[in-house]
Amino acid sequence: MSGRIPRNFIDDLLNRVDIVEVIDSRVPLKKKGREYWACCPFHGEKTASFSVSASKQFYHCFGCQKSGNAVGFLMDYDHMEFVEAIESLAQALGIEVPYEKGSAPARPAEGLEAMYQAMEQSAQYFEAQLKQTPAAIEYLKNRGISGQTAKIFAIGYAPPGWNNLTGNEKLLVDTGMLVKKEDGKQYDRFRHRLMFPIRDRRGRTIAFGGRVINPEDNPKYLNSPESPLFHKSDEIYGLYEMKKALTNIERIYITEGYMDVVALAEHGVKSAVATLGTAINNRQIESLFRVCKNLVFCFDGDAAGKKAAWRSLEQCLASLKEGRIARFLFLPEGQDPDSFINQHGEDAFNQQVEHASTLTEYLFENLLAECNIGTLEGRAQFLDRLRPYFAQIPLQSLKDQILAEVEHRLGQKIDGRMLRLLGEDKPRQQARARQPEQHWTPTRLAINLLLTRPALALTTGTHDELTESDIPGVDLLLKILDRIHDEPDITTQNLLDRFKGDDHETHLYKLAAMEPPIENDESLDLMFADCLQRLQKQYIDHRQKLLITKLQSGEALSETEVLEHKKLFTNQS
Ligand code: UTP
Ligand code: MN
Repeated sequence: MSGRIPRNFIDDLLNRVDIVEVIDSRVPLKKKGREYWACCPFHGEKTASFSVSASKQFYHCFGCQKSGNAVGFLMDYDHMEFVEAIESLAQALGIEVPYEKGSAPARPAEGLEAMYQAMEQSAQYFEAQLKQTPAAIEYLKNRGISGQTAKIFAIGYAPPGWNNLTGNEKLLVDTGMLVKKEDGKQYDRFRHRLMFPIRDRRGRTIAFGGRVINPEDNPKYLNSPESPLFHKSDEIYGLYEMKKALTNIERIYITEGYMDVVALAEHGVKSAVATLGTAINNRQIESLFRVCKNLVFCFDGDAAGKKAAWRSLEQCLASLKEGRIARFLFLPEGQDPDSFINQHGEDAFNQQVEHASTLTEYLFENLLAECNIGTLEGRAQFLDRLRPYFAQIPLQSLKDQILAEVEHRLGQKIDGRMLRLLGEDKPRQQARARQPEQHWTPTRLAINLLLTRPALALTTGTHDELTESDIPGVDLLLKILDRIHDEPDITTQNLLDRFKGDDHETHLYKLAAMEPPIENDESLDLMFADCLQRLQKQYIDHRQKLLITKLQSGEALSETEVLEHKKLFTNQS
């Protein structure tokens, strides 16, 4: 049985990994000044306020305030458990994670591991059931799906009946395979349905989509609920199967349904994926763009399809970096990729793709439909509508292309007024990394300096007066000083890690992320000593004022206050 991971191993690991590398491979970073920057992967934004510090080995978003180290990033971004994140980092460095023996608590990942296994067993059970159920096989046949394709997607069948699944009931409830009623009774969630396993990027089954076979049943599709394994809005159906089938992915088709993905694969179009009944979001688009720079969004040509397409376009804009292309395919009304390719075949589908709109075309088409550009007002209205979309585009060359298109469509040269309407009145500049206005107080600066070079704490003596101080932040400063005195060799990343879960954690990361007004590294000690002096002086001033006010008001001083008064007013000069 495996136990706890030793603290010093985690320290060592944090000192060896490079967070810039870890993050950059998932969210491409750009170096600006000392730090690396990107648009924050945790909230939607247009200008980069997500910073990664190579020297301090942490990330911080000035927009949404999310921060943490490499382990935390993997936990948040890849939805790993703590132990999983440690394992993943260690593996990348080629080192083995030691586990302490004994009565240490079980790894949380063990619970997850068991859940994955329960899902795998369910998937195997459904697959076996399909083979024994002619009606289900018949259904697939009628929809043009061969046994070979069914196998690739591990399609299965959940038989009718309320208690078919066997195994650890808690795991089956936790993964959503069983529904637990208020009276404690449990029953199978999926009954008499065709089952599509949803696999994560590593091919582990994390959820199911189940389609009715009997057209009278509803809902038509039933999906697993959210679980520790399954976060619907992060997953992409078919991604794993696509990567497994193809070494070279030319373009990815984004569809709306399981059956679209499977039917396209059946016809040889193996690079289709689908969202899970939800609108696609920017994170999903980002991860698809990381696999392939060429995305084709496929929609039904009806009103619902158009609406979904527009939402996809909105989610796409911020990800349009160098070389990335998004196109929009509208199939004839009432058709989805599944029905279209079954009716017309692969060639006809490819022909449709040839004629898919580019993002620029679709953007203009949609916005122009609402404005009468024959009039001056209509033209202004058009530019005004275009502005928020235009502003999100990170790539100047694409912006230029759009400006050229504006000239073309409006039949007039871009002038200053038009640029203003588009929000481009300021002189053009590279979207600058965004650090909010920084206000340095001595406390903030002292903490920031300690995080830059923890050993500074050892250059000063005790700070008795400060322990009495109620200047905001001084309590945290003292806590940090104590930490460093306890562990004089501590590194920045380990120091930050010591505050994991602490009330001050967020505040600490925020301070660590601020760029201090330092000329060169030699000035660090002087600056730090100066901060402490100023804090002491601030405290003394405050006490002096307090005592003087008290005396002036005719109040008597307590015994300690008399001593303090004496000390304060003799030490000063
Ligand atoms: P569609 O209704 O477009 O179904 O739903 P489809 O993909 O064409 O399916 P077939 O061809 O009738 O079999 C698209 C997606 O929306 C989700 C599913 O993920 C489905 O694949 N959906 C749909 C649900 O979650 N529940 C539903 O009741 C319907
Ligand atoms: Mn369909």
